[in-house]
Amino acid sequence: MRGLKGKTAVVTGGAQGLGKAIAQRLSEEGCQVWILDLRQDVEETANGIRQATGYPVYFAQTDIGQENQIEQAFRRVAEVSGSVDILINNAARFIFKGIEATAQEWKEILDVNIVGTSLVTQHCVPLMKKAGGGAIVNLSSVSGFIGQSSFATYNATKFAIRGLTKCWAIDLNEFKIRVNSVCPGYIRTEAFENSCIQLGIDPEEENARISQLHILGRQGTAEEVSGVVAFVASDDASFMTGEDLMVDGGYLAK
Ligand SMILES: NC(=O)c1ccc[n+]([C@@H]2O[C@H](COP(=O)([O-])OP(=O)(O)OC[C@H]3O[C@@H](n4cnc5c(N)ncnc54)[C@H](O)[C@@H]3O)[C@@H](O)[C@H]2O)c1
Repeated sequence: MRGLKGKTAVVTGGAQGLGKAIAQRLSEEGCQVWILDLRQDVEETANGIRQATGYPVYFAQTDIGQENQIEQAFRRVAEVSGSVDILINNAARFIFKGIEATAQEWKEILDVNIVGTSLVTQHCVPLMKKAGGGAIVNLSSVSGFIGQSSFATYNATKFAIRGLTKCWAIDLNEFKIRVNSVCPGYIRTEAFENSCIQLGIDPEEENARISQLHILGRQGTAEEVSGVVAFVASDDASFMTGEDLMVDGGYLAK
């Protein structure tokens, strides 16, 4: 893809799942990648990708729900890399609650998915200005378009991500920063297995049910999303901003 080689990219939530696949793909394209994740094995993931691709992969163990940790992470990014060209806002909490959601549950999911994502972006923008522009890709979802039973807490945040995308596309255009969202259907990552545990359902039965919701008749893979994210971040998507790109196996088309 055009314009990725030699760029500096920050990926939040890149220790596993979609974020890990995105970090890997951007590294394969020749980016210098920073992974920000609260998981302890973030170092292992970064080392594994670096060994596989031969390009620099750094990490900062960061809880994006904590502003002081975000500040600290971007101070390190600035010291080591100087500027940032690409930001992938991928980290998210998965709290599935309906009308019964407590104030604490709302706070927990909003603190990460909305406030955390916004503060990461706020701290990253000065480094993008230093680079003379850049691209931000926010992970929304089919859950950012539709209602799903007992998913109010999660879906509200994925709708909001699309709102942030459109507002930031307007506000950051003067700095030559494009902002888009990528909206996957169901992708079989660790989050899927964890969600089944949280909802008390069998993963294989749920996989069979969910697969039928997609025209392609299956869940997607992380690699089927990471390529699209890399495209949106690349110069091949230079006329795209404020856009939501579906990668949903036809989920919303049914
Ligand atoms: N898997 C799917 O079916 C699916 C579908 C549509 C959209 N998405 C979106 O894709 C993104 C990634 O999902 P996934 O399936 O890879 O999830 P995942 O749970 O497998 O991975 C999420 C990563 O984010 C990290 N993270 C969570 N909270 C964090 C915090 N406070 N600070 C820093 N890191 C944090 C986790 O440690 C983990 O490494 C999310 O934004 C999700 O909403 C996923």
